[in-house]
This record gives sequence, structure tokens and C-alpha cells, in this order.
Amino acid sequence: MDLGIDLGTSNTVVSDVRHGIVYDEPSVMLLRRGSGRRERIFAVGTEAADLLGRAPSEFVAIRPMHDGVVTDLETARTYLRSVLRRSAGRGWGLPRRAAIGVPVGSTALEHRALLEAAEESGLHTVAALDKSIAGAVGCGIDPLERRVHMVVDVGGGTAEVVAFCFGGLLAHRSSKLAGDEMTLAVSRYLRETHHLHVGELEAESLKIRASADADGPLVVQGRDAVSGRPLLTTVKAEEVTDAVRPITEEILRTLAACLDDLPPQALADVLAEGVVAFGGSSQIQGFPQELEQSLGLPVKLAAQPMTCVADGAARALRNRRLLSAYARR
Ligand SMILES: Nc1ncnc2c1ncn2[C@@H]1O[C@H](COP(=O)(O)OP(=O)(O)OP(=O)(O)O)[C@@H](O)[C@H]1O
Ligand SMILES: [Mg+2]
Repeated sequence: MDLGIDLGTSNTVVSDVRHGIVYDEPSVMLLRRGSGRRERIFAVGTEAADLLGRAPSEFVAIRPMHDGVVTDLETARTYLRSVLRRSAGRGWGLPRRAAIGVPVGSTALEHRALLEAAEESGLHTVAALDKSIAGAVGCGIDPLERRVHMVVDVGGGTAEVVAFCFGGLLAHRSSKLAGDEMTLAVSRYLRETHHLHVGELEAESLKIRASADADGPLVVQGRDAVSGRPLLTTVKAEEVTDAVRPITEEILRTLAACLDDLPPQALADVLAEGVVAFGGSSQIQGFPQELEQSLGLPVKLAAQPMTCVADGAARALRNRRLLSAYARR
């Protein structure tokens, strides 16, 4: 079995070369503190996310990934093991190769931690591959081509811009302002303008609804900032777009900085070809249009913006030349 794994700050996606996406759930697990004993896993993924904010105090929610890297090896191992178990179905126990996406700026030490956690969770041969390259492959781009390509991945915890060709990277930039910061900006806006306190999940849901429905009024549920009473308010999608604008503008500057790093011929390729955008937050209302207007180059949104990294990583495992050019070990 060949697996591509995208351990994101917000979501974990596993793709199997033969069966497609076999796991796609939030990157969270809920542990239950035992009396004097070790913590035990109570729920993982969607099930854990559904219990967030409802679970009694003996439960702790853990997000195993921070900015795309593993901080605690033990936690990562426990998490990966249960993700793999849940995504394996009847194939559990078979030898499995995997390619795992890593952030482009991550260090050799961080890769080793991730690879070690993966191997200890039962994977046989594991390769680390830049997420942006994996995402590009998932979008049908060939990173071994001579022509320069540029992609932007806007996830939950990071936004990454990478230019590459011919088996190597030409330039990369990243920013810690992405989807999570957009959610925070939305809840700040609601508090300041509508005097409405909302939880993180409600703010995120409004943000996502606004990107799907640009016209209709959107209903938000929260608490009145003064009286503390439950309150329903309606908000326009443009308000959400305006609230997240400081973050989209920062992503724009990150992209512009990466373009500035390119030699003239490479820049010409990117201007002609355009930029491919993926990651959940690239779906924010008006994002590709805003990039096009300010940078003057075409921006294409990936067909599968949230699963192309895992798909591309899985596909890369079957391409020895690509792996030897881009895999980090
Ligand atoms: N339709 C949408 N419009 C706007 N934002 C969205 C939409 N769908 C998902 N998001 C946001 O996308 C983010 C998750 O995207 P993704 O799964 O690509 O991140 P990730 O890979 O887990 O994170 P990272 O790559 O930073 O580690 C979340 O912040 C989520 O709120
Ligand atoms: Mg991601």
C-alpha cells in the first residue's frame, strides 16, 4: 500500500494510490485523564472535534501539529497510529510505504521527528516531501519540467509560496497568517462591530459560509457583549471579506516577495503560466481575484484544494525521479 499523508495544522488527509482519499478529518484528538494513570485516547478526528467545547474537564483536546511540524514526538506517534489504523480498513497490518508532506521551511531535525513518529506508527518506508511540491503534483503539475511553476498553499496555520522547476526549488516564502488568523479576525470583527461574542467554531463557520454564499445575509449565533444573553445577528459576506482583508493582504505581500526573489526568466514563466492556489483558505471569497488584480498574473484555484497535497504525495511515491529530486531524508 502506498500512502500520501498531509498532517496539517487543521486537517489530516490520507490518500491511498489505489483507493483515493481514505481519511480526511480535523487534526485533533481528545485524551481522557485517568486517575493517576496515563492519558488515553478517547476520540480522534471528527469525533473529537464534535466534542470540543462540550467535553467534561477530565478530557483534554490536543492538536498534534503546530505550524505543520511535530512538537511532541510521543503525541505525534499516538495520533498518527490511530489515524493510520482508522484509514487502513482491512489493509491494517500490511507493509505500507508513505510520503508525508512537510512545510518548506522546516528543518532536518523537524523532518526526522516526523519520520521517526511515522515509522514507529507502523509505516515501512517513509519519505518527507515539501507540501507545496506534493500539492502541485496533486494538481497535475510536473515539478521536473524545465518551466518554472509557482504555487500558493493557504492552510490553517501557514501560507506557503513556492517556485520550482527541474527537480529543485527556486524560491520560497511563508507566513504564519492563514486560516486560523482569518477566523480570529472574524470573531474580533463581530465583537467590535456587532457587539457579539462568538466561539471559534461559529466564527469559522461564518467565514466558510461567507465564501460559499456571497449574496445572502448570513445568520450568526453568539452572546450579546453587554448583557451576555444569547443573540442572533445577520452579517453580509462582504463584511467577512473586509474583516479578513489584513490577512489576505499579508499573503499577497508574501507572494509578491517570492516573485521578487525570482530571476527574470523564471518570473516570465510564472507571469505566463500563473499561480496555482490550494489549501482550505484559498477558498476565501474573492481570494484568486484579489491576487490577480494586485499582482497582474493569472491565479487558478485547484480543483481539490484540500486534498491535493495528500493525493500528490501518494502519486509521488510512484515516481522515483521525482522522489529522488524532492524527497528529504
Ligand atoms: N470554503 C472555505 N472558505 C474559507 N476558508 C476555508 C474554507 N474551507 C476551509 N477553510 C479554512 O481552511 C483552513 C484549513 O485548510 P487546510 O486543511 O488546507 O489546512 P491545513 O493543511 O490543516 O493547515 P496547514 O497547511 O497550515 O498546516 C481552516 O482555517 C478553514 O477554516
Ligand atoms: Mg496544509
